[in-house]
Amino acid sequence: MSPFLLPASSDPIRPAGGGAGGGGGIRIEVDGLAVDGLAGQTIAGVLLGSGTLAWRTTSKNARPRGVFCGIGVCYDCLVVVNGQRDVRACQRRAADGDAVSTQYDVLPVVAEGPGDAPTATSAPHAEGDARA
Ligand code: FES
Repeated sequence: MSPFLLPASSDPIRPAGGGAGGGGGIRIEVDGLAVDGLAGQTIAGVLLGSGTLAWRTTSKNARPRGVFCGIGVCYDCLVVVNGQRDVRACQRRAADGDAVSTQYDVLPVVAEGPGDAPTATSAPHAEGDARA
């Protein structure tokens, strides 16, 4: 992945296609905020182009995560797209009007005693969660 952030407005490559701004421009919504990109960009590309380097946090220590491998292997870039969870932002081509939200999952609780069964408490991130 390139270390350079290139806003969509200054990208010299203009793929064909329609979109919110015409001329290949698209607009997606990320956690309720409009973000402009270019047709053909991945969701990660749109986010990086807007200057966003991290869009989720780890379950254990709330460490920031965004693109790590950029090729669909590490799953660090997971987002929710149009209600579908566990979408790799580096692999999903952004479409005009996509509603993207950041994803956060609580770790499962591991049983302490020998007779205790593990309890899966993973739950999708709820809107308004404080993400402590
Ligand atoms: S950055 Fe590794 S899977 Fe998307």
